[in-house]
Amino acid sequence: MRRSVSAIAGLCLLLSVAVAAAQTPASEPANGETLFRQRCGACHQVATPRNGLGPHLQGVVGRAAGSVGGYNYSPAIKGAGIVWSTDNLDGFLTNPGAMVRGTRMTQRFANAAERQAIIEFLQQKQD
Ligand code: HEC
Repeated sequence: MRRSVSAIAGLCLLLSVAVAAAQTPASEPANGETLFRQRCGACHQVATPRNGLGPHLQGVVGRAAGSVGGYNYSPAIKGAGIVWSTDNLDGFLTNPGAMVRGTRMTQRFANAAERQAIIEFLQQKQD
């Protein structure tokens, strides 16, 4: 009897450790750098400001839209007359074409927490 009680107690301890471990990622804020790499990295760079499929995004917060030299923007982005801010980046990422009709960036990012984390990461990437 004693033995089974301590076995159950041990099992409970194991379970609570497992549950705590499983909950950690969900309760922590999403990592902006990782999300950037996953969601944007195929087309955009930051640390090495080189253009790829999309323009580099080093220092994008506070930058005029369509202003990276050597990148062949759509006329839509060039003529948008936007200076990127944390607010309008959120709108752009939610639905680029709705904000800048005719932009060649068509990916939409529906997850608000992820957008927030990515924008905060970009905000730290100033020249
Ligand atoms: C499949 C490729 C692709 C992905 C993925 C992508 N983009 Fe883009 N992005 C582009 C292209 C292409 C442009 C240029 C659009 C144009 O010229 O109309 C662009 C333009 C932009 C611009 C405007 C830059 C400027 O200099 O005005 C921002 C800001 C931007 N992307 C942010 C992001 C972020 C943040 C992510 C990830 C959440 C992302 N993009 C994911 C292709 C992509």
